[in-house]
Amino acid sequence: MRHFLNTFDWTREELQTMVDEGRRLKESPYGDALEGKTVALLFLNNSLRTRTSFDVGARQLGGHAVVLSPSGGMWPLEFEEGAVMLDDAEEHVKEAAKVLSRYCDLIGIRAFPKFETWEEDRKDTILHAFATHADVPVINMETITHPCQELAHVMALQERLGTLDGKRYLLTWSYHPKPLNTAVANSALMIAAKFGMNVTLLCPTEEFLLDDRYMNIATRDAGAHGGSVSVTHDIEAGYDGADIVYAKSWGALPFFGRWEEEKPIRDKHQDFIVDSHKMAMTNDAVVSHCLPMRRNVIMTDEVFDGPGCIAYDEAENRLHVQKAIMTTLIDQ
Ligand code: CP
Repeated sequence: MRHFLNTFDWTREELQTMVDEGRRLKESPYGDALEGKTVALLFLNNSLRTRTSFDVGARQLGGHAVVLSPSGGMWPLEFEEGAVMLDDAEEHVKEAAKVLSRYCDLIGIRAFPKFETWEEDRKDTILHAFATHADVPVINMETITHPCQELAHVMALQERLGTLDGKRYLLTWSYHPKPLNTAVANSALMIAAKFGMNVTLLCPTEEFLLDDRYMNIATRDAGAHGGSVSVTHDIEAGYDGADIVYAKSWGALPFFGRWEEEKPIRDKHQDFIVDSHKMAMTNDAVVSHCLPMRRNVIMTDEVFDGPGCIAYDEAENRLHVQKAIMTTLIDQ
């Protein structure tokens, strides 16, 4: 039984098949592929798009979604193996995963980092605990990566640009007043490399580099698919000739748990905003963001509301590709 935890567990061909099926479902949204099936959606963090698109997608294919969250009355869970459960948790993930598997056919998990120590967060403990103990396939709905967003992103790019091999892809850090999850940045880096693009990671300083695990996977996959991965801290060099600009903010990994030390560094780089001046340096690039996004902080209204922005298409495609992911996992 395969889970959908990360795109690096799946070949490019398998991922393209899911994207193609997503495109078919975009044309013909309703069917019975999930007739009588139930997906449990466990949200330990907020969501607008993921929650709605999975719920609507399951229903459009004849299935049913159950949304669970701590604020919705779920028992607090323990995830540590061998824990002596004297703190707040009332139930261990082992029981939760096994019991949900008796009721449901798929389990989706959203569990962001705790932002205290990256060494701990990078283990992705909650996702892997569910994958280990569940008897049904588990879907990553964003933990320290966001593979569903990756497929929606690829689908939107292919809709606008056709083949992606050889395109110049800029993943740019952008300012945000708070330190955010690196998940979407990790994912964007990996999927752009896997689809054969020449990827540039633009970030203010080396403290904002992504985890070596994802840098290494991206470099390996770019090599295997005719692309490349490079890093720059120079805004002009990053934007020059880009075909695609993907914006995201994230917290600097060396400062996990010491965010008061990171803030003065990030506050110096508000000039990383995606604006029309920077976009003018590109090859008439398309631009996107995973959303939610702070307007005129991450990206200006002019760019976001302009004809080159495909963020709404990408958000819509979450619905279509996730239906393809769910049917792929159910059919195995
Ligand atoms: N992009 C994304 O996952 O959106 P939500 O956080 O609203 O689900």
